[in-house]
Amino acid sequence: MQITVVKHPLVQHKLALLRAENVSTNKFRLLTEELARLLAYEATRDLPLETTMIAGWCGPVEVQQVKGKKLTVVPILRAGIGMLNGVLDLVPSAKISVVGLARNEETLQPEPYFEKFVGNLEDRLALIIDPMLATGGSLVATIDMLKRNGCKDIKAIVMVAAPEGVKLVNDAHPDVEIVAASLDSHLNELGYIIPGLGDAGDKIFGTT
Ligand code: PRP
Ligand code: URA
Repeated sequence: MQITVVKHPLVQHKLALLRAENVSTNKFRLLTEELARLLAYEATRDLPLETTMIAGWCGPVEVQQVKGKKLTVVPILRAGIGMLNGVLDLVPSAKISVVGLARNEETLQPEPYFEKFVGNLEDRLALIIDPMLATGGSLVATIDMLKRNGCKDIKAIVMVAAPEGVKLVNDAHPDVEIVAASLDSHLNELGYIIPGLGDAGDKIFGTT
């Protein structure tokens, strides 16, 4: 499976706090942002570097800097917005593309309602962010949209993934790596991840 589960103790600790039944909206938001920051650190581990010379305090010094790789972060509305600031803390000059998808709670199919991509997608790494990868329909639809618009280099950062969703994404887009805090057990009959977090969008936006 093209999934990297980040076992770092801070990631696992924050995920444990997110899973608590009575977590407040405020705490859920803060933890989502913190977790996104840690997962983005892992997802950007292989950004290409280049060696350059700069003027240092004691004269010229050879340093390593991220090679002019352009990046776009792609939050899937709504819940992906909860991860956005955490990721931007690490890559503050990244451009933002937005995809609006709502999962139909009966068919479990994603229904697109918005898309706005930045230019030059063919030259950019796209980092899709969404807390939940359940059936995988939303992530596959987002990757399809990005590829249709020329994007060739795509990673997805999710907090919790279900095996069913990872398989769907892997089968449709084996080139896309998924970085997650957890690969959970399964989906229940309503398409919710077990043990999961419940409805991440509702918890972030306080709509429960
Ligand atoms: C949730 C979640 C994902 C999607 C995952 O969003 O944030 O986008 O469901 O499900 P899937 O893998 O089965 O497609 P939802 O559609 O509930 O919208 P929201 O973010 O507006 O709450
Ligand atoms: N969307 C969520 O927010 N949670 C799930 O468990 C599945 C889809």
